[in-house]
Formats: sequence, structure tokens, C-alpha cells
Amino acid sequence: MSFQIVSPEGMVIGKTEKVLSSILLDHHNFVLWERGLNTFLDNWSSELKWEKVIPLEATLGIEELDQFESDLLREIKRWRTRSPDLNNWIANDIRSIVEDFMLATHAKEVLLSFSVVATDMCRFFHADKNKLRLLCTYVGQGTLWLPNSNVGRHHLGAGINRDIILDPLQVHQANQLDVLILKGDIWPDNSLGGAVHRSPALGVGEKRLLLKLDFIN
Ligand SMILES: [Fe+2]
Repeated sequence: MSFQIVSPEGMVIGKTEKVLSSILLDHHNFVLWERGLNTFLDNWSSELKWEKVIPLEATLGIEELDQFESDLLREIKRWRTRSPDLNNWIANDIRSIVEDFMLATHAKEVLLSFSVVATDMCRFFHADKNKLRLLCTYVGQGTLWLPNSNVGRHHLGAGINRDIILDPLQVHQANQLDVLILKGDIWPDNSLGGAVHRSPALGVGEKRLLLKLDFIN
């Protein structure tokens, strides 16, 4: 029997990268690619030298991805050197995700950020005032998100999560290495409004390693 994923309205959840292009549909504002890799980097991350991780930012076009991947690998090798296979895997995985995102959204340029998050700065449920944003947590807790039907949209911006959440049992959290694309408030085809999400609450000393891609044009 094949496993079928039931997606909330306006949202699509899938097991392959093919799900990503659904974000362009007017009546969709969220896609989740469940990759089933939650514990894949546990050994790598347990030995990660956090103090060596510097924030990486790059504006990328598709023709720059070969160079980007080798630059990224060189940087990651400085963070941890005992797992060359996983260093390679991460650099190649990020490159593939950038490529998948660009192809799925017809982006010519994206802004990439790959960096440590040590706060829950975006702890209130909110929609971003941007176009499209991809998020993938490589280490640590994933992003929390609400199905559209569970959002008290008129409470957004007031900073009170319990007013925004209609049903506390319908608060979802992405797993490590799952890929989300969130449609923001200023994407032209967005009749639902922006996808509502927040950063996870972090304990003392807890960190995340987060990939973020923003659609530029
Ligand atoms: Fe956000």
C-alpha cells in the first residue's frame, strides 16, 4: 500500500523535489518537501565546531553554482574535518536545493544565507513581507508552521501567539533537512496571504544551522 500525504488547504506536502513548483499556484502559499533525513547529520553535527562557523551569504545565478559549491565545500571543511563524505554531501545538497528552488520558481537570482541561529528572534507567528523564501534546517530544530485554516489572520502582528493559533493541536514543525518554501505577502499571486510560521524556541546554548534562500527575480 502506498503512503498518501493529506495536505492542508493551500499547502502541499510531498516526498520529492517535484512538490516545490506547487508554490507558484495562486491558491497555494506553502510547500513542504519531507526528505526523511532527520537524523542523517547527527554524527556530523555532534562534532561540528560551532565557533568556526561564519555566516555565509551569496547572490547566486544558475551559472555560478559550480563555483559556489566548491567555495562552500572549502568553507565547510574548516568547520569539521573528520567526515569528508558528509562535508561533500552537505555542499552538494545545498547546491542541489538552490538549483531545485531556481528551477521550480523560475528564479534568475536568489540570495543565499547559511548561518548559525542562536536566538528565537522570530518567535511570534508571522508572514514574511517578501516574495518566496526557502528554509532548510541542517542542524537543530526546524521551523514551526500553521495550516492556513489554523490562522487567526487578523491577529498577526500583535505578537500574541495564542490569539493567532486557533487549534493548538494543529501546530506543525519541520524536521531537520526538510525543505519548506513559504510564499510571502508581496508575491503577486497570493490570494491566501503569506504562509504563517515562526522560529522554534531554543534552550540555553541551543543552536541551529539554517539555510535560507530568498527569491530576488
Ligand atoms: Fe519569517
